[in-house]
Amino acid sequence: MRKLKRRDFLKYAGIGGVLLLSKATPLGLIERAFSEDVREIKLNASITTVNVGTGKSFKAWTYNGQLPGPEIRVKEGEKIRAVLKNYLPEGTTIHWHGLPVPNKMDGVPHITQSPVQPGQSFLYEFKATPPGTYIYHTHFSYQLDQGLYGPLIIEPKKEERSYDREYTLMLEGWATVDGGGPEASRMGRISPGMGMMGGMMGMMRGQPRPRDPLREPLYDAYGINGKVFGASASFKVRKGDKVRLRIINASSSTIYTFRVAGHPLTITHTDGRPIVPFEVDVLRIGQSERYDVELYANNPGRWHIYNLRDGSGVSGWPLGTLLYEGVESKIYNNDNLNRLRLNDYNLLEGVEEVYSNPVGRVDKIFRMTLSGGMMGSPYWTINGKVYPNTDNIDIQENERIRFEYFNMSMMPHPMHLHGHFFDVVGSGRSTGIRIKKDTLLIPPHMGSGAIEFVASNPGTWFHHCHNLYHMEGGMANLIKIIF
Ligand code: C2O
Ligand code: CU
Repeated sequence: MRKLKRRDFLKYAGIGGVLLLSKATPLGLIERAFSEDVREIKLNASITTVNVGTGKSFKAWTYNGQLPGPEIRVKEGEKIRAVLKNYLPEGTTIHWHGLPVPNKMDGVPHITQSPVQPGQSFLYEFKATPPGTYIYHTHFSYQLDQGLYGPLIIEPKKEERSYDREYTLMLEGWATVDGGGPEASRMGRISPGMGMMGGMMGMMRGQPRPRDPLREPLYDAYGINGKVFGASASFKVRKGDKVRLRIINASSSTIYTFRVAGHPLTITHTDGRPIVPFEVDVLRIGQSERYDVELYANNPGRWHIYNLRDGSGVSGWPLGTLLYEGVESKIYNNDNLNRLRLNDYNLLEGVEEVYSNPVGRVDKIFRMTLSGGMMGSPYWTINGKVYPNTDNIDIQENERIRFEYFNMSMMPHPMHLHGHFFDVVGSGRSTGIRIKKDTLLIPPHMGSGAIEFVASNPGTWFHHCHNLYHMEGGMANLIKIIF
């Protein structure tokens, strides 16, 4: 990855600037094109032998041979030119999760582009805006659970908050067999409670069978930035530091209940968008959600970064280590979690910022009942239908749209909308400004949630549950924005 300055750009003008130059453009326009900073990124997708620190090697699917893929870090307003080269045995694409890119650059196979075939390349080109913490990942089949993902950070032109150091924490779960999650699922290492009745039940309910979805595999390793606890480097801090953590859940089917022992976390951004800072003890983070948090390093020691087991107080499993400079002891401090303030969208307040959905009356409301997975079925539905047989959502340009979700199933669903940030209905109670996100976790057992957005980005956009196994099991539909 390298940064191109104006002079270098001339070398690339033959590729990127050709259209612009061939037209008889006024000089001013050419000048502006040249003064734009361009970031050239190469992402080679291939099968690589990895070891996440369990002592056991397995074949993952990676970008540039790394698990996770390399961190892409750019400045707001720069132009990203990312070349994907496919060395895999099947097609692939890259989706820039959360970024409102032009539809053609969105990386959804068969919807916004044809899959990039083995041996082929594809150029993704778009402007890095708005600033924030994102994830880029494959959108093809089950490849997400094989390792094809990485962090994408867009730094703001002007940083509003000050901090002493910063870390990206990509949370991951692995089935450490060749081929990762999908292979583990095919080998029958399926989660408890998922019976073998699935296919049969699906047929008995008379549902069409557009594909044969896999069930969630049993994961045997969890960690941060490609390593399990014990194998990973510690996150080092100095007493007095204000530390920014960019926390990204890259897992295909794991929701984290994230805790840094000994430290509260102040949420400053949800899915890249700034909010009024809000302090929690534990961070609940669904698949593909991102939270930027600040941690004040005022409690020297060696601390576990860990995942709380649901409903079990402070027990859980460690993911990594927070270590203060100068601490020699190998003993971990005991966590002193005596209250449990958890993030809840309804407690958060948005702020005015660069990205906004203009306020206004709601033009259309769409209700979506989320269901499926009953009796171990691998099918998941929206309004009783399995993708691609789900109903399309037809929208006109600049209409203000509201989605209301009802979850009739026993699993939470992180619902993700492509191409837009949405306002989270229920948040912003005191400031009147709602928080913005691109993925909303809908709780199970009759849980609900609602979003609103202005259809400002034309095209056909994917909208789906970001549990990969639910998405592939049919919980998806198409949003068609007609201009
Ligand atoms: Cu993270 Cu449809 O994507
Ligand atoms: Cu789901």
